[in-house]
Amino acid sequence: MEVVIVPDAAAGGELIAEALATLVRRKPEALLGVATGSTPLPVYEALAAKVRAGEVDASRARICQLDEYVGLPAGHPESYRSVVLREVVEPLGLDESAFMGPDGTAEDVQAACEAYDRALREAGGVDLQLLGIGTDGHIGFNEPCSSLASRTRIKTLTQQTREDNARFFDSLDEVPHHVITQGIGTILEARHLVLLATGEGKADAVAQAVEGPVAALVPASALQLHPHATVVVDEAAAGKLKLAEYFRATYAAKPEWQGL
Ligand code: PGA
Repeated sequence: MEVVIVPDAAAGGELIAEALATLVRRKPEALLGVATGSTPLPVYEALAAKVRAGEVDASRARICQLDEYVGLPAGHPESYRSVVLREVVEPLGLDESAFMGPDGTAEDVQAACEAYDRALREAGGVDLQLLGIGTDGHIGFNEPCSSLASRTRIKTLTQQTREDNARFFDSLDEVPHHVITQGIGTILEARHLVLLATGEGKADAVAQAVEGPVAALVPASALQLHPHATVVVDEAAAGKLKLAEYFRATYAAKPEWQGL
């Protein structure tokens, strides 16, 4: 796993946006897996700026979703489908047809989960999956003790995650209890995993994921099993890494042409 320590969230956003742009220049129809939450927003802003500036043509790129609430009415502004369309698909100038995600309104949730795993496979697999990390170490909505081999399925959110996400809703009561999430096994099939974490509140989760044992208790530790995983952290989120100096020195000495 490569760990890159950046000065702040904007620098992390720029670095990952450049990695996405490089991928799309090499593979214009790349399938980009995106995450929701506050952390990845600087990535989407930086990538959209590159598209507007003509630095990259993303018109053939495809976007897929990591997870989704179950039970929000179709078109709810905080459904992750709405969020990804608003924050990623539209700013990149893409059409809704470039987007795929699980159906959180399906009556048969299990069938919707299986259909999404199938759709990802049939689309050729995810080229780069962007991930955030929960304060409890989750990736996607794979809460602690999710199977490391899990596929896309329904999960129940922890109270901590519901409280963390309540800021997007009018009250805690409105935050759904159930979600659909790509499983950890599904996520590990992406060709490149890039996890971004910013802020002191993520420092414990980052240290456990990067330097702790691989454990279902810390779902993000599954990145240790992936042959191409990159963890981008700002100084605050890197605050509890024992090997921070080694990670800094390694990245400083990395040839620029290698990218992420
Ligand atoms: P956040 O969410 O970026 O809003 O902190 C991260 C996550 O829960 O994966």
